[in-house]
Amino acid sequence: MNKVVEIEKIVYGGKGLARTDEGIIFVPYVLPKEKVEIKIIDRKKNLIFAKPLQIIEKNPNRIEPECQYFGICGGCQFQHTSYDYQIELKQDILKETFQRIGKIQDVKISQTIPSPSQFFYRNKTQLKVDKKNVGYFMEESHHVVDINRCILLKEDIANAPENLKKLIKKLEKKPEEIHLFSNLRNEIVMKLIYKNPPKNFPFSLNKIQEITDLNIRGFGIYKAGKFPRLRKLEGKKFLYEKVGDIKYRISIDSFFQVNIFQYENIINAVIDEIKDEGYNSAVDFYCGVGTFTIPASKYVEEIVGIEINKSAVEDAVENAQRNDIYNATFYQADSSEAIELLEEINPELVIFDPPRSGLTKEIIDSVSGLPDLKKIIYVSCDPTTLARDIKLFKERGITLEKLKMIDMFPQTYHIESIAVLAPD
Ligand SMILES: C[S@@+](CC[C@H](N)C(=O)[O-])C[C@H]1O[C@@H](n2cnc3c(N)ncnc32)[C@H](O)[C@@H]1O
Repeated sequence: MNKVVEIEKIVYGGKGLARTDEGIIFVPYVLPKEKVEIKIIDRKKNLIFAKPLQIIEKNPNRIEPECQYFGICGGCQFQHTSYDYQIELKQDILKETFQRIGKIQDVKISQTIPSPSQFFYRNKTQLKVDKKNVGYFMEESHHVVDINRCILLKEDIANAPENLKKLIKKLEKKPEEIHLFSNLRNEIVMKLIYKNPPKNFPFSLNKIQEITDLNIRGFGIYKAGKFPRLRKLEGKKFLYEKVGDIKYRISIDSFFQVNIFQYENIINAVIDEIKDEGYNSAVDFYCGVGTFTIPASKYVEEIVGIEINKSAVEDAVENAQRNDIYNATFYQADSSEAIELLEEINPELVIFDPPRSGLTKEIIDSVSGLPDLKKIIYVSCDPTTLARDIKLFKERGITLEKLKMIDMFPQTYHIESIAVLAPD
């Protein structure tokens, strides 16, 4: 059944929300104040999901999307609007989330750092493979949308979907995913992820370079799983990235920030909160390869990084040595299980940069109970879990002092923010 609705606002996830007699309707690829003809496609409890058929009254910030796959491919949600307006939408969503979930009215965003480039910013991609198709999943589906090019990816890997199809065609046994990571020197490492990896992979690294015309310096064959397991590796296992005066080693299996134009900005946004005060000790939870631990080490007497991923911990240890840092130590541990260690260190400064799931109550309880705690810097890629955790901190006497937003993911709904908290 078709109907016309007016979009009130955009919610986290990128969909427009319309209030109607029937209930709340969510519509993708629309903008606030637009009148839209929609078709209802699904109902779940009292929520209704629709697709837009026609924009009857347009928001003045609506533009033509740059990418031919926009609206079909599930990778982008905001290409139909100007970049300035994307930033406004994200600020509104962040504030609204803090009100609704964090119960903080009128939160101020003290600084917003837009991405210097809106396209060609991603150093990393996880392409899906289905028969001959290479691309990304369609929104809310497991159908692989076949693409030749993704303009969010760095220039050297933007055409990788098309190039990789040449490889896929030649493979008898096809991987289900192909992951690429490319550094500022345009060197690439690749992961081919299989449900059942082949015993003998037919191509050498040289041959793969020749087939794909990509500057692949190393590739691994992996068995799929929550943590894909390496079965065979050829060529380089690590790439290096220089950010300011710090050189990071990043292994094929470690996390690193994805927007090449925001590397320095996100590190500075964290360090700016540390550098004017001295701290005798700090703990950096979810530290990855030491992205924040290494620069923060200059402003504290001792810093400990905690990270669950073994290869990231190995990179972090190497990165401390490589950068002549002698006051940083790294532990491979689940953050929730590092509570005894935290209590022993009794840090004055705590940095968090968790995955989307945010923090556990155990960590929040034990950090809140630290006798010498002066400051928490919480880097978040999900405003809903950030707002939830900030509410829990507030209930334990630790209050939000500052909130910054840094756009790591133009054209998408993802929101990165940095919250600074301190004991009352
Ligand atoms: C968003 S990344 C941040 C990494 C790093 N701070 C950076 O900026 O590059 C989150 C990191 O948390 C790690 N991680 C995920 N779950 C964890 C857990 N339960 N305990 C410790 N580390 C975890 C991941 O391996 C990943 O390196």
